[in-house]
Amino acid sequence: MPPGSCPMRGLPHLFVSCLIILVLCASLAEADSQHPLTTTAAGAAPKRVAIIGAGSAGSSTAYYLRQFAEVSINVTVFERNPYVGGRSTTVNVLDNPAYPVELGASIFVKVNRNLVDAVKAFGLNVAIFRQDLPRESKHVLGIWDGEGFVYLQSDTFRWWNIVKLIWRYGWAPFWTEKLMKRAINKFLKLYEPPFFPFQSLSMAAADAGLVETLRSTGSGYLRDNAISEAFSREVIQASTRVNYAQNLPLIHGLETMVCMATDGAVSVVGGNWQIFAGMLNASSAHVRLNTSVTTINRNDNGTFTVSYNEDYQSTREDLFDEIVIAGPLQDSNITISPSPNHLPRWIPYVTLHVTLFSSPHRLSGQFFNLASASVPDVILTTLPHGVDLGSQQDGVGLSGFWSISTLSKVEQKHYVYKVFSPQRLTGEFVARILGVDEPTGAENLTIGDLAKQDVSWFHEKVWHSYPYLYPRENFEEISLGPNIWYTGGIESFISAMETSSLMGRNVAGLMVQAWQKETRPKGKRIYQGKTEL
Ligand SMILES: *[C@@H]1O[C@H](CO)[C@@H](O)[C@H](O)[C@H]1NC(C)=O
Ligand SMILES: *[C@@H]1O[C@H](CO)[C@@H](O)[C@H](O)[C@H]1NC(C)=O
Ligand SMILES: *[C@@H]1O[C@H](CO)[C@@H](O)[C@H](O)[C@H]1NC(C)=O
Ligand SMILES: *[C@@H]1O[C@H](CO)[C@@H](O)[C@H](O)[C@H]1NC(C)=O
Ligand SMILES: *[C@@H]1O[C@H](CO)[C@@H](O)[C@H](O)[C@H]1NC(C)=O
Ligand SMILES: *[C@@H]1O[C@H](CO)[C@@H](O)[C@H](O)[C@H]1NC(C)=O
Repeated sequence: MPPGSCPMRGLPHLFVSCLIILVLCASLAEADSQHPLTTTAAGAAPKRVAIIGAGSAGSSTAYYLRQFAEVSINVTVFERNPYVGGRSTTVNVLDNPAYPVELGASIFVKVNRNLVDAVKAFGLNVAIFRQDLPRESKHVLGIWDGEGFVYLQSDTFRWWNIVKLIWRYGWAPFWTEKLMKRAINKFLKLYEPPFFPFQSLSMAAADAGLVETLRSTGSGYLRDNAISEAFSREVIQASTRVNYAQNLPLIHGLETMVCMATDGAVSVVGGNWQIFAGMLNASSAHVRLNTSVTTINRNDNGTFTVSYNEDYQSTREDLFDEIVIAGPLQDSNITISPSPNHLPRWIPYVTLHVTLFSSPHRLSGQFFNLASASVPDVILTTLPHGVDLGSQQDGVGLSGFWSISTLSKVEQKHYVYKVFSPQRLTGEFVARILGVDEPTGAENLTIGDLAKQDVSWFHEKVWHSYPYLYPRENFEEISLGPNIWYTGGIESFISAMETSSLMGRNVAGLMVQAWQKETRPKGKRIYQGKTEL
């Protein structure tokens, strides 16, 4: 979740059909998500639900709980940050609210059903990914291996275009697309009965037929399916690096395939976080920002006492019937007592440095060994031919960065750049890619030490953006113990805004199913729309 989305999807995607589809769908949209479900059985106290985290998973839990619940509910969402959206958040270029840019999860795609439906339901506008590129260069996109470009694309169509790629890579792009579609179709089974709602992600993934892709590395999976080394390294690995900061011998086959599913890549105008703000609003949950939960104590009568610090100071407590931990527990600093039956294990997360900055300068031709008019707007990276860093976590290699994208040009003179890197960028590096004089004097210079006329604005952020997606078949439990739920396990399966939303919807489904068992005779089945709960 990053950032989990959709991940920080970096693929340029200049396709129009998705917009047409979204517009069409929007015009057909009905307010079917609005049916009131808070019919209070006379006298029954509302179910008190605490959701910890207002990112995609937490907002989705609240939203779908409001849709699915047949009993009265009272939902409180705790969020330690002063904003909603989690790893999906924006900052303003030149501190001007007219120029918001995504700092975390950037795009989602056509098959991301929950997000696409929510965008329709809330009437949000979407922009085709990378539609604001300045287009002043001869090349839209290039793949840099640290020494030279292994691939340059000059037209403005999406690069992941089979017809364009076949002359260079033979049938590999065609077979990759087929493999990707097969994997995505299996994944989509998780949205519908009999898979949905699933008690165990490990079992659901196995039942959907995804084990083969999950237990191989990307490189193993591609090799087994006879995808050429050249296409895997130059195109597919450039995608896994920009999206997940991982090379093919580390990342599993399923996430590798997800990186190639780029059809209809869009983002919400003004920021993707508005999807989650819309979900929270529609859920009528009480949202407590700036509030850190510190302890969750299970009482003898099965309720939970939740202690939290409001505005980072006064400690308060409230009583709840259900708890949803909607984010990686390992970063939350929450003590649960007694310890639940299944405590999620620690999972290594990628440390991703995101540097956003604006400058009147274009990327330096000298740095990239090209005529300056030819330096691509979007620079993805891969490892040079013959270099295999195996499953090394710091696999960035010679390039030293994962990607550099020119996002737009504002006020006719400031190019806006986004860099993903495993380390903080040095002032020297930024000066070199812009072809300006390096600042002199002090040691260890950073971007802030560059002259204002070279870097007009910048913002640096370090995320624990997504897990290292090693091959695995077992995922953290969803039910940690009675009435205590966890969404974070899905991040090692597919880390994306959409999958966290799916897990939020799934937890809502499981919770409502459990409430139905309390009140309905055994064996009686309940249908909620298309979803049998
Ligand atoms: C809902 O829960 C909140 C927090 O526990 C509480 O302050 C509020 O009074 C509750 N509202 C209802 C209608 O029960
Ligand atoms: C949260 O805290 C920030 C500063 O720490 C403050 O500016 C903001 O108003 C607070 N928001 C809420 C909803 O309390
Ligand atoms: C919040 O939800 C209400 C209905 O529940 C709706 O009327 C209102 O427009 C929504 N506000 C926003 C900002 O989405
Ligand atoms: C359950 O236990 C808590 C903590 O001891 C208490 O505050 C609450 O009133 C109890 N609820 C019921 C329904 O007994
Ligand atoms: C975690 O909790 C400890 C003790 O409660 C506190 O000192 C520390 O600052 C907290 N860390 C974070 C990241 O909130
Ligand atoms: C510069 O960085 C090096 C290596 O990280 C460190 O040892 C040194 O203390 C730093 N110097 C200053 C002035 O911060």
